[in-house]
Amino acid sequence: MMAQAYAPFPLSRPRRLRRTPALRGLVREDRLSVKDLIWPVFVCDGEGVIQEVASMPGVIRRSVDLIVEAAAEAHELGIPAICLFPYTDPSLKTDGCEEAWNPDNLSNRAIRAIKATVPDIAIMTDVALDPYNAQGHDGIVRNGEIVNDDSVEALVKMALAQAEAGADILGPSDMMDNRIAAMRTALEQAGHIHTTIMSYAAKYASAYYGPFRDAVGASGALKGDKKTYQLDPLNAEEGLRCVERDLAEGADMVMVKPGMPYLDLCHRVKTRFGVPTFAYQVSGEYAMIQAAAANGWIDGERVMMESLMAFRRAGCDGVLTYLAPEAAKRIRAGWE
Ligand code: PBG
Repeated sequence: MMAQAYAPFPLSRPRRLRRTPALRGLVREDRLSVKDLIWPVFVCDGEGVIQEVASMPGVIRRSVDLIVEAAAEAHELGIPAICLFPYTDPSLKTDGCEEAWNPDNLSNRAIRAIKATVPDIAIMTDVALDPYNAQGHDGIVRNGEIVNDDSVEALVKMALAQAEAGADILGPSDMMDNRIAAMRTALEQAGHIHTTIMSYAAKYASAYYGPFRDAVGASGALKGDKKTYQLDPLNAEEGLRCVERDLAEGADMVMVKPGMPYLDLCHRVKTRFGVPTFAYQVSGEYAMIQAAAANGWIDGERVMMESLMAFRRAGCDGVLTYLAPEAAKRIRAGWE
């Protein structure tokens, strides 16, 4: 027989502990902190440029000078890391994706500019070819196939250029086989022994990425879907195997993506591997919250906080969220 965890009624009245804010605060099992937040931002060309992203109300693309300002504000708020996504001009997209490892591409220029002004905020990057690919895919396409090993070679060049520019956290989001080992080996050989890798390890082929592809201007270019490299939404075990593999190949941290629809994975990854585990609350999750809030159907601020707390409860160490500045302000103002 199982030991009884609680005394029977009336000795036990669980509501005693829920009666006042003070008591609720005492028994709260976890905290959401500003230090748990990573803020993904979109970078565009020019100076003083702000462009709205129609499918993500409240999210904007900023030119490098304004990204530096945004990084400074995030740092002031206590947000530990910012993640850069470039909007690449269609004229720079090629089948060979060469712009991806141009030391002076938009993303690398943004890294240098932020490092020069806000050296203490950690800069995370995206390692995937889709912003630079005329085919819109994360890997190189040849005869209709996303070829793995040549893609990995290209991704390694891209990762090295980002490390060289000063990135603190590389975020391979491409889902090619063996890319973590290849990047880690190349980083070591180039002397970038401190550059960390947060692999998008359990990344699912998701319709929740739709608004993001608009934000980086990749939706027009993409032919077909990403199902030959991103995971099937029904496959949890395969997601766990991917995490195990990326860790064995040298990832320092792992990510589950999307976030809320895959909270089971977050929990299983943390429980099984006990490594730094992150979730990405992706563009579609953001858009759904904003849309419902704009219609007055939900309280946007409360749903934002509850959605972020869910990641903590599931075991995540942190979360990438477009809501990071809003959440940080809310947390700093005190949250009950
Ligand atoms: C690209 C990449 C994607 C996202 C992050 N990196 C899109 C994709 O895989 O198609 C999605 C982020 C979001 O939806 O917020 N490799």
